[in-house]
Amino acid sequence: MTDRGPKFRVCKFLKIIICSLLIITLVLFTVASVRTLSLDVNVGLQVAQWEKTNNLTPEINQRQREELLANFKEAIRIPTVSSTQTDFNTTALVEFHKLLRKAFPTVFSSSLVHHELVADYSHLFWVRGSQPALLPYMLLAHIDVVPASESDGWEAPPFSAKEMDGFIYGRGTIDDKQSVMGILQALEYLLLKGYAPRRGFYIGLGHDEEISGFKGAMTIVRVLKQRGVQLAFVLDEGLAVLDGVISGLEGPAALIGISEKGQATVKLSVSMVPSHSSMPPSESSIGILAAAVKRLEENPMPRLFGHGPEGGTFEHLAHKFKLPMKFIMSNLWLFSPLLGRVMERRPDTNAFVRTTTAVTMFNAGVKVNIIPSLAEAYVNLRIHSAQSLQEVLDLIQSTVGDQRVKMELVEGFDPLPVSSYDDKAFGFQIIKKTVLDLFPGVTVAPGICIGNTDSRHFKELTNDTYRFAPIWFKPGDAQRFHGINERISKKNYEELVVFYFNLIQNCDIQKLPDPHNSVHEL
Ligand SMILES: *[C@@H]1O[C@H](CO)[C@@H](O)[C@H](O)[C@H]1NC(C)=O
Ligand SMILES: *[C@@H]1O[C@H](CO)[C@@H](O)[C@H](O)[C@H]1NC(C)=O
Ligand SMILES: [Zn+2]
Repeated sequence: MTDRGPKFRVCKFLKIIICSLLIITLVLFTVASVRTLSLDVNVGLQVAQWEKTNNLTPEINQRQREELLANFKEAIRIPTVSSTQTDFNTTALVEFHKLLRKAFPTVFSSSLVHHELVADYSHLFWVRGSQPALLPYMLLAHIDVVPASESDGWEAPPFSAKEMDGFIYGRGTIDDKQSVMGILQALEYLLLKGYAPRRGFYIGLGHDEEISGFKGAMTIVRVLKQRGVQLAFVLDEGLAVLDGVISGLEGPAALIGISEKGQATVKLSVSMVPSHSSMPPSESSIGILAAAVKRLEENPMPRLFGHGPEGGTFEHLAHKFKLPMKFIMSNLWLFSPLLGRVMERRPDTNAFVRTTTAVTMFNAGVKVNIIPSLAEAYVNLRIHSAQSLQEVLDLIQSTVGDQRVKMELVEGFDPLPVSSYDDKAFGFQIIKKTVLDLFPGVTVAPGICIGNTDSRHFKELTNDTYRFAPIWFKPGDAQRFHGINERISKKNYEELVVFYFNLIQNCDIQKLPDPHNSVHEL
């Protein structure tokens, strides 16, 4: 009898806890189910009535097909390589300018188009619109490429533009000469068909994006700022159409970059009086610095998955997943901590979960029998959207936690502002419509770039920057970026020309259709 009382009470207590947990789970499940369902019917603007401005159809014939491919191949063959801030091929950049004039004679002679060279090798085009009240937009791409050497294992020489199995191989075929040439080819065809835009637009072609765009993009920005230009949106390189890349996703997804991670390069150093190795101090500069670096690696930056715009990606894609992933992705408010833990296990998905920390250089020591006076290490961090550069620097300082380790910011910037992607986001909706007209089965979603682009310099000219080109990426293709066997299919390059041809016309609408007057086909 005496010991029944307490046992009973424990049981009852447990039951109450279990019951409460069940009720909470049930409530959460109901809320979550409603959210899962509501996503399925969220078709939005794409079935609304759009003002028709795309009156010209590209209709590329065999002669044009040969011509546009020949122009593109010539562009690939010019080695516009940027190696370092001071080492880039100016001969190739001059040659590239000549090619543009030869390939797109109408662009360079039209009275609607004003062309100027900026910072000697970059190009700025202004295409005058007939309705000056419409805010202009800007298309960006870059002419330079990263170095490439055939001996790295290319199947075709990297500046040959060789055709194999329907693909054109070469450095720059997907980064970023497909857009340089695609945009101007589309404009050439539009002008030949007598097109005159209502909404004016700029085209900016930088020559040093691969070495940060400090000359090209930054000078273009300075020129436009002096002229008081404001832009409705900017479209630059970045994300693509992913086909079979996201596991579990049904069908391809076009991800439009709405932000970029920030960056910091931090130099850590320890200096002490040099001494002889026969009478070493208990701790050397190398030992102190190595311990600091180890602490940084063992204590990664906090998990922030779900605190940045990455939630938008999952919510837009959720309905294309099967249960239970569909359920999990439509309810990030509940599952993001769990998903973050799963994603952090792989380096490629970990990049979306947190600010990443990479120790990239470590220098110390000059002679085998001297305790070095100086040890230094470089750490490269890619900053998650939900953190600032300053917060990251403070965290490094506290994690290192050693006054003897000096910290210096070599270079850095905050994550880029998040561009809008709702029903009122002009640029996002125009890009989305243009993608869906061209590729009807594709799901369009906002995404985040973990690399950086020239467009990051434009944030004072516009509130909305998008990073996307309709390049098809299958599993393994991402490694071709800055890697070996960079290539694009001939069909895909032609699709790019059509994409820009339609995009430019789609931008001529006065304003987006009103989402409340949508004609729902459901
Ligand atoms: C620079 O480009 C020119 C072609 O424009 C090429 O002939 C030359 O070999 C290139 N230089 C280097 C160092 O690659
Ligand atoms: C950017 O946003 C600010 C604040 O919402 C607004 O005042 C400004 O007009 C916007 N700029 C453009 C170019 O849309
Ligand atoms: Zn690029």
